[in-house]
Amino acid sequence: MKKILSVSLFATCVLYLFACSPKTSPTKTTVETKEPTTDKNYTITLNSNYGKEIYEAKCGSCHDLNKPSDYTFKAWNPIMDRMAKKANLDYLQKQNVLGYLKDNAKAEK
Ligand code: HEC
Repeated sequence: MKKILSVSLFATCVLYLFACSPKTSPTKTTVETKEPTTDKNYTITLNSNYGKEIYEAKCGSCHDLNKPSDYTFKAWNPIMDRMAKKANLDYLQKQNVLGYLKDNAKAEK
């Protein structure tokens, strides 16, 4: 019960964060994630448009911007673990980029 409560509390915070975003018709996606401090697993809803903005702003500075469809989402996960650190993404930025990649990645075989 406590877990469900904290998860929905966090989800509400995330929703509030993006409620003020001026973007039109954001793509909603969900990503399995771990809360960084408690390591609990849960699913949050992300804004794929916000993820795209971060991706385009942060991920092309050291090398050419990869196409999300260059990799499957499964392949993107370990890449993002390394690259999010390089790009200094905070936790939510990383999750949103993952949401964007999940929507646009190469189809799993
Ligand atoms: C500080 C520079 C820097 C930033 C910022 C950066 N990268 Fe990279 N990236 C690298 C370097 C260096 C390599 C090659 C060496 C390596 O794999 O660590 C690389 C390699 C890659 C590769 C090749 C695949 C692989 O397994 O090596 C992908 C895909 C990639 N980056 C995606 C991203 C994404 C997505 C972001 C934004 C979250 C990002 N990069 C931000 C430096 C950067």
